[in-house]
Amino acid sequence: MGEFLTDVATLREQARAHMSRGSVTDAYGADRDRVVEVLNQALATELVCVLRYKRHYFTAQGIAAQAAAAEFLQHATEEQGHADMIAARITQLRGEPDFDPDTLTSRSHAEYDASDGLESMLREDLVAERVAIASYSEIISWLGTGDPTTRRMLEEILAVEEEHAEDMLTLLDGLATVA
Ligand SMILES: [Fe+2]
Ligand SMILES: [Fe+2]
Repeated sequence: MGEFLTDVATLREQARAHMSRGSVTDAYGADRDRVVEVLNQALATELVCVLRYKRHYFTAQGIAAQAAAAEFLQHATEEQGHADMIAARITQLRGEPDFDPDTLTSRSHAEYDASDGLESMLREDLVAERVAIASYSEIISWLGTGDPTTRRMLEEILAVEEEHAEDMLTLLDGLATVA
């Protein structure tokens, strides 16, 4: 897992550098342009997660994969729900939700994955969830009390990402027991 942890650290560094340029100057309490920008990164992350879980759902094979496939499908649905919530909030903030597929993977915090093996799928999903958890935690801290509505939404999403990570870890542990 070592190489994945480096990726997470790099992503977190970039996210932090990005946010530190903003300053609070209006009654809204946060830098709206920056919030929209950060939310668009989160939107890209959720969309990539939808695609990764859909890929895993449709390609997971074998009896051992049945429980995992059900989780992949549920996660895909929940990530789509997160994407919708974030896009709606961007629009509320008078920003433009960015669904451009050409730049999706470069704007996403988490990565797409087309692994063949179930263990590799679960590992990649766990890493992606950990990336999401790390970035949402940082965004929430950064928002502070500047935008309670966005913050509350992200806290709700964060709790689900933590459940997702737990689900993937449980399934990985199950594979280790079977092997
Ligand atoms: Fe999500
Ligand atoms: Fe997730």
